[in-house]
Amino acid sequence: EKGGYDHFMLKEIFEQPECLTNCMRGRINVEANHVTLSALIDYRLQLLKAKRIVIVACGTSWHAGLIGKQLIESFCRIPCEVEYASEFRYRNPVVTSDDVVIAISQSGETADTLAAIQLAKEKGAFIYGICNAIGSSIPRATDTGTYIHVGPEIGVASTKAFTGQVTVLTMFALALADAKGTINRDEYLKVVKELNRVPEIIKEVLKSNEKVRDLARTFTYAHNFLYLGRGYSYPVALEGALKLKEISYIHAEGYPAAEMKHGPIALIDSDMPVVVIATHNAMYEKVLSNIQEIKARQGRVIALVSKGDNTISRIADEVIELPDVLECLEPLVATIPLQLLAYHVAVCKGKNVDQPRNLAKSVTVE
Ligand code: F6R
Repeated sequence: EKGGYDHFMLKEIFEQPECLTNCMRGRINVEANHVTLSALIDYRLQLLKAKRIVIVACGTSWHAGLIGKQLIESFCRIPCEVEYASEFRYRNPVVTSDDVVIAISQSGETADTLAAIQLAKEKGAFIYGICNAIGSSIPRATDTGTYIHVGPEIGVASTKAFTGQVTVLTMFALALADAKGTINRDEYLKVVKELNRVPEIIKEVLKSNEKVRDLARTFTYAHNFLYLGRGYSYPVALEGALKLKEISYIHAEGYPAAEMKHGPIALIDSDMPVVVIATHNAMYEKVLSNIQEIKARQGRVIALVSKGDNTISRIADEVIELPDVLECLEPLVATIPLQLLAYHVAVCKGKNVDQPRNLAKSVTVE
């Protein structure tokens, strides 16, 4: 049932184009260039009146939430906070009936996320779930929500669920912004159209698998990795680092690139690989100078660049090219090589990729 792949994780990485197509099916109408989520039709008023959105989640789902925050704030102009469910539930947080709480969970069984929902519900918030496992505890505890429909995820390290969550968050932000009138028509159409093309773009990115496998071999010696990104790519850096930690047991940290000079730069030497998401976007020049700073300290740079970039290609040790995509959709694309990198490093190190030590697929205890 691994479909010819050596591990579930690799199968699930490669399944992503198909999974995201399933996730968008019936929700994005290509001819009309329109996004419809049934939850947004059924609960339109509750969602339109939200003064604030609070996202609660753990682990990879929390990373998806950080991307959701940027999408929601930029399209819907609603303040949005992202909380670790485990911190939120014990903090006596300020929650009112003006809030919509979005709970994100692949398994739908994470104890802390479930407890966060219960707390927010008692305080009168409207609860929206983004889950994968149909009929699990979290969707049953929410007022409404959207399933990501990516199919069962077997590998302990979350891959297709992450891109499914980000896809649903993108559709949610677009549909809500459209209902609120906070997004310009051309922008809306442009993003909807491109979102619909993401499965094809991911297919293209998956072609870099062998290249990533080859470069993974040269980095298995490392004891530490740093992952850097800015804006929409910052949560991708966190997610890349988490994937590497959980399956290869190499210590890795994700950082917003500009924070490097406030501490982590002290770690950089010739034994320190730094993965930098450095595609052509608003922050390109600034990220480029981060790369120069790393190289000046003999760090080893693995850069994710836009196709045809020949500036960074000349300074980075390794480059992985990504097709151009709208900046707000970049997480869906840039995540793929980082999933592959973690996978191949772990395989090279002979680790049990699908069932890493000490980890469980659903965390039903706190
Ligand atoms: C990482 C991973 C975990 C989960 C976290 C939340 O690859 O799988 O960090 O993302 O335990 O799980 P769910 O989404 O099921 O609530």
